Amino acid sequence: MAEQERKQGKDIVLTGDRPSGRLHIGHYAGSIANRVRMQDLYDESYIMIADIQALTDHMHDSHKVSESVMELAIDYLACGLSPDKNTIFIQSLIPALPELTILYMNFVTLSRVQRNPTVKNEMQQKGFGSSIPMGFINYPISQAADITAFKANLVPVGDDQLPMIEQTNEIVRSVNRTCNKDILRECEAVLSTVTRLPGTDGGAKMSKSLGNCIYLSDDEETIKQKVMSMFTDPDHLRVEDPGKVEGNTVFDYLTAFDPDKSALEEMKAHYARGGLGDVKVKRHLNDVMQDFLAPIRARRKELEQDRGAIMDMLKENSLKAAEIAENTLEELKTALGLKY
Ligand code: TRP
Repeated sequence: MAEQERKQGKDIVLTGDRPSGRLHIGHYAGSIANRVRMQDLYDESYIMIADIQALTDHMHDSHKVSESVMELAIDYLACGLSPDKNTIFIQSLIPALPELTILYMNFVTLSRVQRNPTVKNEMQQKGFGSSIPMGFINYPISQAADITAFKANLVPVGDDQLPMIEQTNEIVRSVNRTCNKDILRECEAVLSTVTRLPGTDGGAKMSKSLGNCIYLSDDEETIKQKVMSMFTDPDHLRVEDPGKVEGNTVFDYLTAFDPDKSALEEMKAHYARGGLGDVKVKRHLNDVMQDFLAPIRARRKELEQDRGAIMDMLKENSLKAAEIAENTLEELKTALGLKY
């Protein structure tokens, strides 16, 4: 019966971001665009501002995290994520999530979490050494709570999050087996077509600390400067030389943002053949980025005047989300016999 219910169940989307400063176009290409596309397609959609998860590596910067919650909400709305189509809420306002996390912790071994490739990578990047915060090592379990609390089956994420989905599904199976009932629902990742945009310096990833990002809130002049100094093909010395399109950041960005795909293909062929200079291609990219970012920036400016109303919306949505998560928690506690 439960299995049938689950199969016939609605398509429920849940995703989230750690709030940490402003969004850049890498976030847009890698995830926001996908969510904007998805917001009309499914029965229910939840977008979580994961402030608790952000604290797992920013505990000494907690005010920066809380201030970034509003900035992230403004970025979401400016990009066209509609609060009518998505329940946008704040993780720390959902009391059932830490309770679910504590229960799930008994279904996961320490060595399993330590083997999680994303956790491993991040641990190295952040240089924790042997001083790993418990909250950090535990975050995949907390993320499983985020997803399962809402019975989400679709999770739009970047490919770096695939290990989290796998870990979530292991917890789901283990909990359901223990309860002898399909209380939790398995989920799948929905990957976007552009998974990762390189930094303006050609580095593998845009990152605030490397200063190689174009932000959604950047002004016209800043965008132009960043585009004109972008990494291209270091061996393309003279205009008449053949150039490399692959690994050329300017073309990576055009692939992600230029709406005129056929003209872009021609441009790529011309560049590869030789006779097309970097400055020309960059000017074109600048036009494309200005056209794309101007309306977002304008909308952002308007939304900045509405912080009060936006916070009200987030709180109201969080109340609704808290109730749904609470129902899942109650179901699980009942199945585990924790009903007094
Ligand atoms: N870990 C995600 C990130 O770093 C953010 C996140 C938290 C999330 N909870 C989630 C993503 C639940 C998807 C589903 O980007």
